[in-house]
Amino acid sequence: MQKGGSGKTTTALNLAAAFRDLHRKVLLIDLDPQANLSQALKVEVKDKKSIYTLLKLESDGEAAGWDGYIYQSSGLSIAPATLALADAEMELVSVYGREQLLNNLLESLRSEYDFIIIDCPPAVGMLTVNALVASDFVIMPLQAEYLPLQGIHSFNERKKKIKEKLNPRLETLGILITRFDQRLGMNQDIGAQLGAEHGSLLFNTKIRTNIALAKAQQKGIDIFSFDENSNGALDYKSLAFEVEGRIGKLQTS
Ligand SMILES: Nc1ncnc2c1ncn2[C@@H]1O[C@H](COP(=O)(O)OP(=O)(O)OP(=O)(O)O)[C@@H](O)[C@H]1O
Ligand SMILES: [Mg+2]
Repeated sequence: MQKGGSGKTTTALNLAAAFRDLHRKVLLIDLDPQANLSQALKVEVKDKKSIYTLLKLESDGEAAGWDGYIYQSSGLSIAPATLALADAEMELVSVYGREQLLNNLLESLRSEYDFIIIDCPPAVGMLTVNALVASDFVIMPLQAEYLPLQGIHSFNERKKKIKEKLNPRLETLGILITRFDQRLGMNQDIGAQLGAEHGSLLFNTKIRTNIALAKAQQKGIDIFSFDENSNGALDYKSLAFEVEGRIGKLQTS
């Protein structure tokens, strides 16, 4: 949910893979017209069966289920995007109930999966709003090298509005520090500052800078299939446990 390269796609992919290895049933949804997640899993869209087509069908009242729209790769299920999804931002503007399209589509799927993880585009528009309206929880990855307190503030405001007006279920599950490098004092300071301001929201798990994460993504596999002993694998496994723990707590409170 943060500008270019904060680790959204990397987190969606590898958190899903960590859950897969814990034998949870996970569905990935690529809601970014850049289609990085679909590319990272080397998915080839057939017969235009992408999330864009589903959203269009839903906006015309013609959606008839997810058959053919969910692909398998590396033991993961994914509803892929294509570049055509970029048109959705404009095309959906005049559609009645435009913020609810993905939420409506997911209705029939929710009971089939333990987790549905949606990868969002960098720009906040109709697609991101659809993701937030369809979600119970949001994870906000932040790159440790920047001091994005302003970004966190505007994100919180936006989330509050969506929760009030469109999706009362929505909770922030946590802020996730990515590309963390303990050797850099600056990174530690950011962690400390975020900790003070947004203490309880910060995940204990930090995703360290790890070249294996980038290499795996380029190769079209997840970090566990690439190198299960890498820091990236250890960090995303730890995140999966923390995510389940937090969801468990929120659901009983
Ligand atoms: N912890 C990490 N260590 C090293 N490289 C990383 C790490 N996390 C992500 N990267 C790399 O940084 C780049 C950007 O990451 P990613 O694609 O996940 O960001 P994003 O938030 O999805 O970007 P966008 O806003 O463009 O969708 C990718 O090449 C990815 O492989
Ligand atoms: Mg991305």
